[in-house]
Amino acid sequence: MTVETELGNILEWVKSMRRRVHELAREWEDEEGNLIMILHAIQNEFGYIPRGVANELANELGINMARIYEVITFYNYFRLTPPGRHHIQVCMGTACYLKGAMQLHDDLDRELRLLEASGGREGEFQLESVRCIGCCGMAPAVVVDGETHGRLNPSDARTILKQTRRA
Ligand code: FES
Repeated sequence: MTVETELGNILEWVKSMRRRVHELAREWEDEEGNLIMILHAIQNEFGYIPRGVANELANELGINMARIYEVITFYNYFRLTPPGRHHIQVCMGTACYLKGAMQLHDDLDRELRLLEASGGREGEFQLESVRCIGCCGMAPAVVVDGETHGRLNPSDARTILKQTRRA
């Protein structure tokens, strides 16, 4: 792809993003809590809230960027970075916490850093902590790409990552 084509694609993306932000702002303009609804719609479309889109939204609504970031950072749901290809959720509910979830989370985090440092694709995994996922009998539990793994010990971190990469 030539530089001109690539620039043309970027400009086209910016134009369509602006149009979409404008449409969303009009769609929700008379609704209470419209900023949150618009941010939900943006995240549904982009997978996260890109900075440029947040900036466009601030202009469109005539509000400060700080207000947008206040909302984004207040709710755990909103993401400021693109989601990873694989999604790992470590349960930090009481039962899991008492059975070593923190250690498991730290081990997964360390393994992911090692993986990236050794040439793994950046952003391949998205690691997050969540509250009780409803299977306390399997504590500590982790959900990987929608599949629950339970009764894990810290040394399982490497195995989970290996199996997920192979899938
Ligand atoms: S506390 Fe982890 S599943 Fe309930």
